[in-house]
Amino acid sequence: MKDLARLRTSIKESVELALNQQIQMEMISSSKYLAMAGWCDRNGLDYSAGFFYKQSEEERNHGMKIFHYLCDQGATAYSPEVPAVSQEFDSFRSVFEAALEQEIAVTDSINRIIGICRRESDFASEELMKWYVKEQMEEEYIARRCLDLFDQIPADQITDGIVEVHHTGSRSSFG
Ligand SMILES: [Fe+2]
Ligand SMILES: [Fe+2]
Repeated sequence: MKDLARLRTSIKESVELALNQQIQMEMISSSKYLAMAGWCDRNGLDYSAGFFYKQSEEERNHGMKIFHYLCDQGATAYSPEVPAVSQEFDSFRSVFEAALEQEIAVTDSINRIIGICRRESDFASEELMKWYVKEQMEEEYIARRCLDLFDQIPADQITDGIVEVHHTGSRSSFG
């Protein structure tokens, strides 16, 4: 049965596994961003909560894009297990530190998958992953810029509104 299923797709098992792991990583990211949104919401940081709610939705879409790709290619996409994520953060700043850390981990993962695609000469999957390379450049940039603010502005002057300007304003440079 498994062999028959393999004949239905040109996707190699190693790529299928890596892409399913990426679906899981995107869904975990979505869950982590939702936790950040909830924390900001609880602490009266409405703008940042809105930003993280949106990020959470985007990460789910990233996972779904790969999910649909695998199905379209005749491979198997698995609904991933999403383990419990941490719901508490030490400070406003640490939320953004967690966001940047998470984005860098995702970038590393995307780069690793492209390496697998190249070894398997799977150019279609590599093409899909190239979309994520660009997406990660933008996501890392925004997370880094938000975090920079905490270095540039004294802690008692950091407001939710200042961060909001960066959430929205910084996107424009990536079109
Ligand atoms: Fe993502
Ligand atoms: Fe992301």
